[in-house]
Amino acid sequence: MKIMVVGGGGREHAIIKKLKENKDIDVIYALPGNGGIARDAVCVNIGAKDITAIVDFAVKEKIDYAVVAPDDPLVLGAVDALNEKGIPCFGPDAKAAEIEGSKIFSKNLMKKYGIPTAEYETFDNENDALKYLETCKIPIVIKADGLALGKGVIIAMTRDEALDAVKSMMSDKVFGQSGSRVVIEEFLTGPEVSVLAFTDGKTVKPMVSSMDHKRAHDNDEGLNTGGMGTVAPNPYYTKEVAELCMKTIFLPTVNAMVKEGRPFKGCLYFGLMITPDGPKVIEYNCRFGDPETQVVLPLLKSDLLTIMKATTDGTLDETEVVFEDKHACCVIMASNGYPQSYEKGFEINIPDEIASNVYVAGAADKDGKLVTSGGRVLGATAVADTLPEAINEAYKLVSRISFDNAFYRKDIGARALKALEE
Ligand code: AMP
Ligand code: GLY
Repeated sequence: MKIMVVGGGGREHAIIKKLKENKDIDVIYALPGNGGIARDAVCVNIGAKDITAIVDFAVKEKIDYAVVAPDDPLVLGAVDALNEKGIPCFGPDAKAAEIEGSKIFSKNLMKKYGIPTAEYETFDNENDALKYLETCKIPIVIKADGLALGKGVIIAMTRDEALDAVKSMMSDKVFGQSGSRVVIEEFLTGPEVSVLAFTDGKTVKPMVSSMDHKRAHDNDEGLNTGGMGTVAPNPYYTKEVAELCMKTIFLPTVNAMVKEGRPFKGCLYFGLMITPDGPKVIEYNCRFGDPETQVVLPLLKSDLLTIMKATTDGTLDETEVVFEDKHACCVIMASNGYPQSYEKGFEINIPDEIASNVYVAGAADKDGKLVTSGGRVLGATAVADTLPEAINEAYKLVSRISFDNAFYRKDIGARALKALEE
């Protein structure tokens, strides 16, 4: 079987490594992949947003099944375009991907179907937004409507910050068209939980929960990043919380999408906050999270390709989705300066015997050597029976990997450990 995975980060590396456990797969192409993924798949120099080239490649190579991993191609309609040519895909079509592509769409969906989320107002006129901010409660959260590389959310701790945020999005257009409409919403408090769930549009099978660490530096200081590390499972996601989420959030969301004529197939990511009033949705993503995938998939016991195909065929109810009763920790090693500017081109040393635990994100091949090419360079994941062991093992892996200008958080999993002790 010929498989194609669209994307080229740590998440895609984790998906590819898991897929490779299926012996029916003869070849996996990664579009575009990266220097590290090249050791596990055939990388093809086609960008993840180049839908025409992706479809042409898939047709030419007679791809049997395609996995579209990043948000951009999903929102741009990569799945629709591939399906038109008869190529089955993992991932939502463009209409369903709007659950991530437009925050206004997702907020209105939740309001219409009574799915718990922060109270909000939406604005397409800057003056109205600024007027609203004069009297609203502070802190307040400002969100650009469209995709903004994970940077379109500003938590304003003062009224001035809130006013500046709206101006920068709506008149200075720092996020381009994504910020021409904004959501202004209530500031919620409580621990955050990421839950990725497989769904075929009817059945929802949540994966093991996880905890991301979004800030660049220890103790949750510094700028927001794509994620500096993860642990799974998330201790705040108890059995009771999980049952409540299934009843009040997961099933209602999937059913709402069907009622709206946008059945969602693929991986639906629920970004949740466990507030004093119960779990609420902070955001939906229409895809696997990064670096959540790097701790979730290593714990998956069932065959990934079988599950993916079941989401496409609508047979998820009869498909086994089982996770190991273990813990995983992923520590991201980044280039010093990330998420702002950083230098690239430094050689990366990963001992062969730990390569299977490493998911490469921002690295290129240069004359047969792996060199840094991105902000988040790689993630090292360890699986163990307990959380302390998983954390310990992950940091041991990190200590064996080296490149110039590397930086990483030293406290991945610390908050989860504290929660376990409480
Ligand atoms: P996002 O880019 O949508 O993942 O949001 C970034 C982060 O902003 C989230 O992980 C939360 O920590 C925070 N956030 C988003 N919405 C809210 C909210 N309504 N109240 C408090 N924090 C929020
Ligand atoms: N780790 C957060 C995300 O993938 O959006």
